[in-house]
Amino acid sequence: MINKRLIGAVKESKKYIAGNVICQWVSLAANIAMMGAIAHLLQNLYVGNQDGFGITAVIAAIALVIRFVCATASSRMGYLSSKAVKKTLREIIYRKLLRLGASYKEQANTSEVVQVAVEGVDQLETYFGAYLPQFFYAMLAPLTLFVVLSFVNFPSAIVLLVCVPLIPVTIVAVQRWAKKLLAKYWGQYTALGDTFLENLQGLTTTKIYQADEFKHQEMNEQSEHFRRITMKVLTMQLNSITIMDLIAYGGAALGVILATTQFKAGHVDLAGCLMIILLAADFFLPMRMLGSFFHIAMNGMAASDKIFRLLDLPEPEQKTAVVPEDCSIECNNLRFSYEADREILHDVDMAFPKGSFTAIVGESGCGKSTMASILMGRNKDYSGELTVGGTPLSEISEASLMENFTYISHQSYLFKGNVRENLLMARPNAGEDTLWQVLEQVNLADFLRSEKGLDTILNEKGSNLSGGQCQRLALARALLHDSPVYIFDEATSNIDVESENDIMAQIHALAKSKTVILISHRLANVVGADNIYVLDHSTVVENGTHSELLARNGTYAKLWNAQQELEHYTSNDVIPSEARSAKSRDLGIDSTAYANKVRRSFDSLRSLRMTASEELNGGAQA
Ligand SMILES: Nc1ncnc2c1ncn2[C@@H]1O[C@H](COP(=O)(O)OP(=O)(O)O)[C@@H](O)[C@H]1O
Ligand SMILES: [Mg+2]
Repeated sequence: MINKRLIGAVKESKKYIAGNVICQWVSLAANIAMMGAIAHLLQNLYVGNQDGFGITAVIAAIALVIRFVCATASSRMGYLSSKAVKKTLREIIYRKLLRLGASYKEQANTSEVVQVAVEGVDQLETYFGAYLPQFFYAMLAPLTLFVVLSFVNFPSAIVLLVCVPLIPVTIVAVQRWAKKLLAKYWGQYTALGDTFLENLQGLTTTKIYQADEFKHQEMNEQSEHFRRITMKVLTMQLNSITIMDLIAYGGAALGVILATTQFKAGHVDLAGCLMIILLAADFFLPMRMLGSFFHIAMNGMAASDKIFRLLDLPEPEQKTAVVPEDCSIECNNLRFSYEADREILHDVDMAFPKGSFTAIVGESGCGKSTMASILMGRNKDYSGELTVGGTPLSEISEASLMENFTYISHQSYLFKGNVRENLLMARPNAGEDTLWQVLEQVNLADFLRSEKGLDTILNEKGSNLSGGQCQRLALARALLHDSPVYIFDEATSNIDVESENDIMAQIHALAKSKTVILISHRLANVVGADNIYVLDHSTVVENGTHSELLARNGTYAKLWNAQQELEHYTSNDVIPSEARSAKSRDLGIDSTAYANKVRRSFDSLRSLRMTASEELNGGAQA
């Protein structure tokens, strides 16, 4: 139960642990002195001598003051070492995560990391603050008492000393059982945490599908498992505490019996006998206390295993190369899979010359976003060749990659706070004028002026803005970043047509000066690209400009014609919904999103028509 690695990780705690042990030991010495004085006073009183009162009172007073000071100092040391542990371990975990970088999710899941760093570290507070000092003190205290009492009456002292190890023996016996139980307990705990976090994040979706009852049941079941395991842990702890109590107080009683028989036999005087009786319990109490800290410490050990598992994750080696001036990207025979037996990208060859405007299209699930993730350094386990300006992407430092590549997805994250804060994270020193300029570019300036300008409050994930507005703001932030390479991954999916048009216009403008990679399922958006890669069945099946691809009459042309056909239907009623979704499935379109988009356009047309006819009618009546 002495984890050298853990203690080594928090070196600062050693001095506090030593200080804590010394304080407790001095306090014990003061207690022995006080009990000795009281025992002698009682003996004197027994023989009718009342002299010793004054001196005993002085000794007792000094001993009490010493004990008070020591108790305060020892709890202060406990606090200081807990503080050092929390600060140091959280910092170590944080630094580890930084070193793991953007791809940490390949190896650990977020909620586990959060739990280990918060709850797990809290558990270790007791290990360092209470258990470790108690561990050393519980060895030292019986030995000290033994040395003192062996001068009073050796047989009693030796019996008391021999009984003390019975407590750690029980602890060890319980340990095996406890370890398994606690590992299970922690497993259940993180699983429950995972589910809770996920359900909280997906609450809106759960409500929409009225699946809350189902999720509720699911969580109830998991909490019930957790409750059971918690009860088992508590039972184990209480049982072992009862056993330890029996040993501790039984041992002390044995000492008392022995002392009185020794007194009766005349081997020890009254003062000695009283001193043994008064100090017998102190032999066992430190060990008994260690026993009760033991369970919390075990919990800490289970947590520390989790912490070390995280700390031991292999790190990507620190890379030093930077994105070269010529940031042309090229990949040859690129292969990637998430799971061993399912290849997502197979022998993919693509080139994104500096300053070019390239599109990647293909059915939903064909690996477009995976390609973007690889380019952004989030998926590292690929094979084949992938270079930026001739330098392998795998050798480029994450910092340089993030500085030079900007990724905008359909769910770019907007932080709680205000518009200004969200924009400044892309360029911290940007002035007001610059901020307004990008907001003008994305057509968001007028709206924000009607609100509180740059101080307009944003809720978490920008939930108080419309989808289109969020995406415009995300684009404004990306424009501020001003990096040489931009990757847009379905940046306009699921938003209103007007926002989509505005954003596409900005992307086209950006493509004049930057390297732009545009991933889109809507082919109308990629018509202007210099080169279009068509992904199908994990690989590139064709590439070229829009007109070249149409002339080839291959996969792209088929997709294009089908999408055109679909976009030219004028009413919802023309295609029955089953047929529409079957069709859109063939085309690789998210049918629900698409149907919603089409419906929204029709709805706005319909309401326009109604307003117009109302106005006409009104005008006629007037
Ligand atoms: N994190 C992941 N783990 C396992 N499989 C994944 C993961 N992300 C995506 N996939 C799978 O990889 C395939 C390609 O996904 P993706 O690149 O997102 O497609 P899309 O072309 O629609 O962007 C899909 O079949 C998907 O199921
Ligand atoms: Mg995708």
